[in-house]
Amino acid sequence: MIGSFKMDKKILVVYFSTSSNNTHRFVQKLNWRSVRIPLDGTPIKVNEDYILIVPTYCGGRLHMHGAVTKQVIQFLNDKDNRSYCRGVISSGNTNFGDQFAVAGPIISKKLHVPFLYQFELLGTMEDVENVLNILKTERWKQNNDEK
Ligand SMILES: Cc1cc2nc3c(=O)[nH]c(=O)nc-3n(C[C@H](O)[C@H](O)[C@H](O)COP(=O)(O)O)c2cc1C
Repeated sequence: MIGSFKMDKKILVVYFSTSSNNTHRFVQKLNWRSVRIPLDGTPIKVNEDYILIVPTYCGGRLHMHGAVTKQVIQFLNDKDNRSYCRGVISSGNTNFGDQFAVAGPIISKKLHVPFLYQFELLGTMEDVENVLNILKTERWKQNNDEK
């Protein structure tokens, strides 16, 4: 039955990670279906609902300029990619103080999607559990079912 298949389908995770791979390692710990936005800027298209997980790269500047990496901006500049985003999770390093994980709130505001969670570096086991609980939330399943 198509309806029940859609209801059981896990929401996709789309993520970006630089060569330091912290976010990549966090996503690996989730053991969840995921797609990585390429580091080299190769464009990708996503055709289903997803949760975005991104690191923050302000570089410690006073202003928030650059908090969202250019690869993520390029991905979200695609209207279809943008329209399937259901929520955003961001990471960072608390050494950056007020700029900790600000990529999440910036994307949330721009796309009008919920800012769901923030974690530091590779995340702890508690972060992994918390994010898994968010991904398993009924609201994404219901959303898939409506499509
Ligand atoms: C140049 C540079 C700038 C960064 N700027 C920020 C920042 O503004 N806010 C923050 O929370 N973390 C900042 N970070 C920390 C990264 O977001 C953090 O290390 C993250 O885990 C990197 O993920 P990745 O390895 O998947 O790219 C910065 C790191 C670097 C190297």
